[in-house]
Amino acid sequence: MVQCVHTVKELRNILKPLKAQGKTVGLVPTMGALHPGHATLISQSSKQNDITVVSVFVNPTQFGPNEDFDAYPRTLDNDLKVVEGAGGDIVFAPSPKEMYPSEDMTWVEVTGNITKVLCGKTRPIHFRGVATVVSKLFNIVAPTKAYFGQKDAQQVEVLKRMVKDMFFDLELVVVPIAREQSGLARSSRNTYLSDEEKSQATVLCAALNLALESFKSGNNDLESIINITKQKISSSEIADIEYVECYGLPGLYELKDKIQAPSLLAVAVRFGNTRLIDNIILE
Ligand code: PAF
Repeated sequence: MVQCVHTVKELRNILKPLKAQGKTVGLVPTMGALHPGHATLISQSSKQNDITVVSVFVNPTQFGPNEDFDAYPRTLDNDLKVVEGAGGDIVFAPSPKEMYPSEDMTWVEVTGNITKVLCGKTRPIHFRGVATVVSKLFNIVAPTKAYFGQKDAQQVEVLKRMVKDMFFDLELVVVPIAREQSGLARSSRNTYLSDEEKSQATVLCAALNLALESFKSGNNDLESIINITKQKISSSEIADIEYVECYGLPGLYELKDKIQAPSLLAVAVRFGNTRLIDNIILE
């Protein structure tokens, strides 16, 4: 039976004796609205750790003023079922006041290209909010391992840098993108899509795979790979491209004219009012 706790104190009281017995703890940070993609992270954690803690917290500091913080789906009852089904043990579902007790606060911010490119251009405060809340969760849970999805590839790069720079004593585990049968990357925001938008959005995965095929067959020209991806996405009349970009890994370094493996090809595209992201590693 999954235990659901809402305060830092309760969670620490549960974890302290377990850690004293030498048990390993996996943390899966989420904003709830759990779907099969999250279930993959949770079940991987439960296989690799004695205890799995899933945090469910819609983090206000990572949403910009005109973003979907209020509309973001909140489905705690169902989330508890998903955690249970995937083998998780504890859900930590704090209030905003619990996580941000006062208005004067400490930020954790990763600087440089890594937070400026891709989503950083249109979401300038997003990664500061993510780094801050994830630091808090790392300090509250002190996990052995923490699990993140490759779907948020830029978030993964930012958090890898943060773990390194801040000497967090844990292993960051990156889990491959979970996709629907159609190829659409699983996301809590898919619930905003109409049936038509959902079916058109499958073009993202198709475009990324086309680019990968071209790269694998010897095309390492940056402009050409970007154009192949953009053209395929534009075959959907309702796709409104925010970006199609490619950066070197690790750390999202700028590429000149040629793509070196491994590089991240990432897209952000609107279908109606819904902004979707997806990516593939060219290697
Ligand atoms: O990926 C997410 O769902 C969020 O950005 C995270 C890591 C839970 C921080 O709020």
